[in-house]
Amino acid sequence: MHISEDNRFFQEKGKLFSEKASDIAFIKENIEVLRDVIRFNERRYYVMNDPLIADFEFDTLYDLLKKTEESYPALITTDSPTQRVGPGFTKQFNTVQHLVPMLSLENSYNASDLIEWDRKAQELSGMDTLNYCVEPKFDGASISIIYENDQYVRGATRGDGIAGEDITLNLKQIKSIPLSAAFSTYGIQQIELRGEVLINKENFKKFNEQLAEQSLPPLANPRNAASGSLRMKDAGMVGKRNLEAFIYHIAYVHYANHKSEISSHSKSLEMLWELGFRSPVNEKKIITGIDKVIQFCAEYEAQRDNLPYEIDGLVIKVNELALQDKLGMTTHHPRWAIAYKFKARQATSKLLQVEFQIGRTGSITPVAKIQPVPIGGVMVASISLHNEDFIQEKDIRIGDTLLVERAGDVIPYIVKSFPELRQGDEMEINFPSHCPFCSAALIKQQEEAVWRCPNYQCAAQVVERMIHFTSKDAMDIRGLGDANIRKFHELGWLKDIPSMYELPYDKMMQMEGFGARSVENLKEAIEKSKSQPLYRLINALGIRYVGETTAKALAQQVNHLLDLQKMNREELQKIDDVGVKVAESIYQFFSTTENSEMLNKLEALGLQLHSIKKQTAEGTLNGKSFLFTGSLLKMKRAEAEELVEANGGKILSGVSSKLDYLIVGEDAGSKLEKAKKIASIQILSEDDFIQLIK
Ligand code: IVH
Repeated sequence: MHISEDNRFFQEKGKLFSEKASDIAFIKENIEVLRDVIRFNERRYYVMNDPLIADFEFDTLYDLLKKTEESYPALITTDSPTQRVGPGFTKQFNTVQHLVPMLSLENSYNASDLIEWDRKAQELSGMDTLNYCVEPKFDGASISIIYENDQYVRGATRGDGIAGEDITLNLKQIKSIPLSAAFSTYGIQQIELRGEVLINKENFKKFNEQLAEQSLPPLANPRNAASGSLRMKDAGMVGKRNLEAFIYHIAYVHYANHKSEISSHSKSLEMLWELGFRSPVNEKKIITGIDKVIQFCAEYEAQRDNLPYEIDGLVIKVNELALQDKLGMTTHHPRWAIAYKFKARQATSKLLQVEFQIGRTGSITPVAKIQPVPIGGVMVASISLHNEDFIQEKDIRIGDTLLVERAGDVIPYIVKSFPELRQGDEMEINFPSHCPFCSAALIKQQEEAVWRCPNYQCAAQVVERMIHFTSKDAMDIRGLGDANIRKFHELGWLKDIPSMYELPYDKMMQMEGFGARSVENLKEAIEKSKSQPLYRLINALGIRYVGETTAKALAQQVNHLLDLQKMNREELQKIDDVGVKVAESIYQFFSTTENSEMLNKLEALGLQLHSIKKQTAEGTLNGKSFLFTGSLLKMKRAEAEELVEANGGKILSGVSSKLDYLIVGEDAGSKLEKAKKIASIQILSEDDFIQLIK
């Protein structure tokens, strides 16, 4: 038995393995069933997008398999779910030949192209009307994968179509690509499949946000992100990119015995799906006649932005494989398929001038002002040039013609310039040496690509910090938008963040354009922001490298914002998401006197600096206080704290004689030393704590 649709069966088996986790003999004997349970759940999650168990339950089963294999290495199989992850480092990608060439597709852009293609297909096949299988044209990086005797043996990039780069290890990281699949049940001994690797819009956005937090230029589009990820030398890193793979074509099959031959493309998609691949079975549509295909294409294009991933068109394939054979192929593309390309999201335009903008951390960003041009229904006039290196790499000059892309809801991006179109009057872009706003000499730190204004009081920076403070993902103060912040700053009302909570509403009411009602609404929005959850405030403070995700991790660790002030660099680094650089930045922020004064002022003004935790419940830990130090292995710190609170206990932020229990995880530091000196504190391990809770 391999992967089956039997949901109940696998759910019950999963429960059984959890119950029998300590029965080594049982686990050893049934290890292949345990693997099937894990494979089944991976498929539910990564292929079907519809998990049947909680992440925590999955992790428990996976850990059980991993530990058993570690104790009994002889039991490891190459297709065990544990074998996806490292060790995997490719020094150089070898070139490998595809079993059959990876062809391209002919393109069509409108109804008449499709009508003409259909006419030829009818003629060559001798059929009056044809059945087509229409499916998304995934906009990612194409791959070719080979299975032999049911095992995944090789993965490659397209390369020149004849040979590509061997990325076998990297593709193993993609959980929607099974490490083994029961092709033998179809009599298949060897098979070469084609598909597309992509990164979905949400993960792409997150990835670019992470780059932005490090002041690095974003990637242009999810396609570049996917193909770049496939060529990373460290397979472990590939795993972190959350890539997905759609498999849409069988390029070559070798049968050991002809059990049942597949008769149509749609049946091959179904077979792949049954075997555990993410083929576009649910996305595809079988349509008779080109007129209905054309109608479908128009409807699909209108829905394009609703998909979680990018597609750049649809692929129309003659469904019957016998007819595909009859139509054959050219050296470039099959005659039985055609791509219908959606409207391009690229355009060319002229660079008129470059402006230099300042960010809340003083970073100077060059911004291209281009001749406005519509792309994908939006007028684009202004595009970030990121930094000096970007301008040099792309060889951009004022007056140049630029190729601009705007993929879906992604911010516009300059793909390239056209030096060959220059007329001689183009001008080099001169990067300023001094801040355009306060004239301070700009500085560039080692290993950084951005120039910064070092003057923390630079009025332009102050304004940017306030704009960030009020933004949607931060304190979300509606009504106090960019324009008002600039205006109030000019009027001298806003000089720093606390001053936002001390606006002179009476004076504001006298101003043109500010009625009693709008002032009242603004006041209400500002008051309301005082009780925003702590992570929003942390994000709003604009600490370098601390975006929303890190802010959430920080807020989970503390009871009060000022607890962060008490943490040293090492303690900060133990927090999820916080590395050396981030810890240093947080540490610097909280040890700056001005910042600490600002935070005290914000608290005095009534802002919520506590991390809102659940109300104290009644339970076995009533009245007892706890503190966790070091990293816990079995649960997240926030989960452990929640458990304490759910059982009536409370969490303290430091070691003192008020503390009852110190729970010590790995690499505990100064807190443990301090606690050892106070006799009334009981020091417990994570396991002791779990026992106590039980
Ligand atoms: S079929 C022999 N189906 O688009 C025909 N290709 O621009 C094999 N692509 O080379 C291709 N989605 O990399 C096929 N559903 C789909 C596709 C698809 C994306 C890619 C593929 C192809 C390229 C042509």
